[in-house]
Amino acid sequence: MAIQFISDTKTFHLMGKDISYLFFINEAGYPEHLYFGPRIGAGDDIRYTRAFGANSTSATPPGVDDVRSYNDYPSELSFFGTGDYREPAVLPVNRAGDRLCELLFDTFDIVGEKPAISGMPSLDGGETLIVHLKDRINGFAADLYYTVYDDCSVIARRAVYKNTGSSDVRLERAYSFTLALPDRDYEMLSLYGVWAKERHIDRIPLHHGVVSIDSKRTTSSATLNPFMALLRPDTTETHGEAVGVNLVYSSSYVLKAEVAPDGTAQLTGGINDFDFSWKLAPGDQLETPEAVIAYSAEGIGGMSRAYHDAYRAHLINKRFVGSPRPLLINNWEATYFNFDVPKLCAIADAVNGLGIDTLVLDDGWFGKRDDDRSGLGDWVVNENKLSGGLKAIIDHVHSIGMKFGLWFEPEMVSEDSDLFRAHPDWAIGAPDRKRCYSRHQFMLDLTRKDVLDYIVKAVSDVIEQNEVDYVKWDYNRNVTESWSRCLEPERQSEFAHRYALGLYDICERIVNGHPGIFFEGCSGGGARFDPAMMHYFPQIWTSDDTDAEERTKIQYGTSIVYPLSVMSCHVSVCPNHQTGRVTPFDTRAVIAHLGATGYELDTTKFTDEEKAAVKLQTAEYKKVQDLVLCGDLYRIDSPFDSGFFTEAVVSKDKSKAELICYRRFVSVNNEIKRVKMAGLDPDACYRLEETGITAKGSTFMNVGFAPKYPHSDFAAVKYHFTRI
Ligand code: GLA
Repeated sequence: MAIQFISDTKTFHLMGKDISYLFFINEAGYPEHLYFGPRIGAGDDIRYTRAFGANSTSATPPGVDDVRSYNDYPSELSFFGTGDYREPAVLPVNRAGDRLCELLFDTFDIVGEKPAISGMPSLDGGETLIVHLKDRINGFAADLYYTVYDDCSVIARRAVYKNTGSSDVRLERAYSFTLALPDRDYEMLSLYGVWAKERHIDRIPLHHGVVSIDSKRTTSSATLNPFMALLRPDTTETHGEAVGVNLVYSSSYVLKAEVAPDGTAQLTGGINDFDFSWKLAPGDQLETPEAVIAYSAEGIGGMSRAYHDAYRAHLINKRFVGSPRPLLINNWEATYFNFDVPKLCAIADAVNGLGIDTLVLDDGWFGKRDDDRSGLGDWVVNENKLSGGLKAIIDHVHSIGMKFGLWFEPEMVSEDSDLFRAHPDWAIGAPDRKRCYSRHQFMLDLTRKDVLDYIVKAVSDVIEQNEVDYVKWDYNRNVTESWSRCLEPERQSEFAHRYALGLYDICERIVNGHPGIFFEGCSGGGARFDPAMMHYFPQIWTSDDTDAEERTKIQYGTSIVYPLSVMSCHVSVCPNHQTGRVTPFDTRAVIAHLGATGYELDTTKFTDEEKAAVKLQTAEYKKVQDLVLCGDLYRIDSPFDSGFFTEAVVSKDKSKAELICYRRFVSVNNEIKRVKMAGLDPDACYRLEETGITAKGSTFMNVGFAPKYPHSDFAAVKYHFTRI
């Protein structure tokens, strides 16, 4: 039993891999948090740890004069209006206009298998506790879900808000969880960015009051990933406590860390309540997105590995998560919109026999799409450009033993498209107002059933009528003028969440409706890189910035939460199209091979030397692909803090490992750089293949060695360890 209920103390003890989470139902009937951290003794009564700060101005619960204020208790789900002045997780507006609720314990259930969230992705499996809370007075209720796993140190949490009363309730806030923390001695780590600079790292101390991150873009965004970690000030990559929270959600969200006057802290968040409300008629409920909360006593690296394990085991499509990925050539940076059948066939021919197995035809094959001003929505092949249609390319690609992939941007429509001319009302836009353009395009209203059905049919027709093996699903702009013709005025603030539900509906029908096809996600680079998308897309394009130097930071930051297997990374041409930088070809491969890899350049221009290099690079990648897809990641040197980027991937059984060493700049007399390996079995003996040296894991990890970087800027070298 991973979840224990100790009836005399009304305590719940949830036990995941290496972790314990405890709360109890206190004298006020309130679920009071006790502990989240390393595994502790089952059955131990830890209520002796309760401590209350002086709180002379606090109000008791209504009508009860002899218990403490709700403001004093560490919370499992904070609510407003009855004495708790911290950030509430929920704000219901009742019939009389009051915003009061007192969500107290009613009953609970423990189920062996986690119930799915209807219409939204979430982690699977795991024993689950459902705590039913009920308002003291009216029919408003909340169910709190907690799931623990024996194979990863995370707890999955979410709330379901229910109107079991007889009049409408309007939710003005509906977060997924509250997590109490014992003190305020934390720093917040978050992942910020922008196009071509996704998931860089910020770390700032908490202060009294609220520190928050959010998205108001109806997408999880490159601006701030839906992830926050609270770290002790002395937490490093390898040591110290880290608590992470990551939302399995792709629309506007918020995460907040708050320090209260008594020196405690709490985390809360979920659907962004900015520009949000949700009407619950009697009998209705709102299911909130899942928050995946990780705990590590082994620093940021331990937290990352907890997330990687959780997502690979319980979130990402099991058909694809650990299996070899298509090793592809994508034509985007090779041709942009300027291609025809002979050119595409030549790009594929040029890599035939070099270990690349899939040609992905990117943007521009459909409608009247010769640049980015037209054609989106018209998912019909442009035979003027591609004479003989997709069939001509697909037949050729298949005849040389390669697979074929195709780009779509299903959620979009160009003003200059047959779709927009036929259905201008399908594009998101508010009455009497002009629409904002972004990349010259508009967005389809995914809150409408007819629009969803059109998208599913249009995309399915193409991939069913052609032998498509792979789909790249792009999303290149954010919502403006959030308004839907099909929602009543009082429901317009439901738009952002309903957009996400529409997106999941079409993903469910298109992706899961075509189980043989491999789907990759994308969003103008990596702007929708979130766990919900990972449920559908086992790999996601990490960034449009393909410069190897810039990629060290983007990939390092992304790996703080997400496994390497999800990061799609390509080798591109130099000078790099985004930065103009020139980096060695081998370095570009070393960095791009730290993920699901591919090439994105004009292969018809390859020299014989480059062809030989590609053949070697892909062969080497295939040898270690299982480490990259399924192994444990150890980050050794951060490109944010140093001129080096050093990472190791180690097989789960610790029998083999790869070490990647990258140095930014060469100098005439470079200082000696020593690298200490990580993640090996200290007691096992290993051979360092490139040097023939054999030593114990403990030796490689404690003594280290000096990698032999090639004598150039942006130099990279790889080493391999085999247990003997
Ligand atoms: C986005 C993607 C690119 C490419 C283009 C096509 O920017 O991130 O990889 O597919 O769109 O328009």
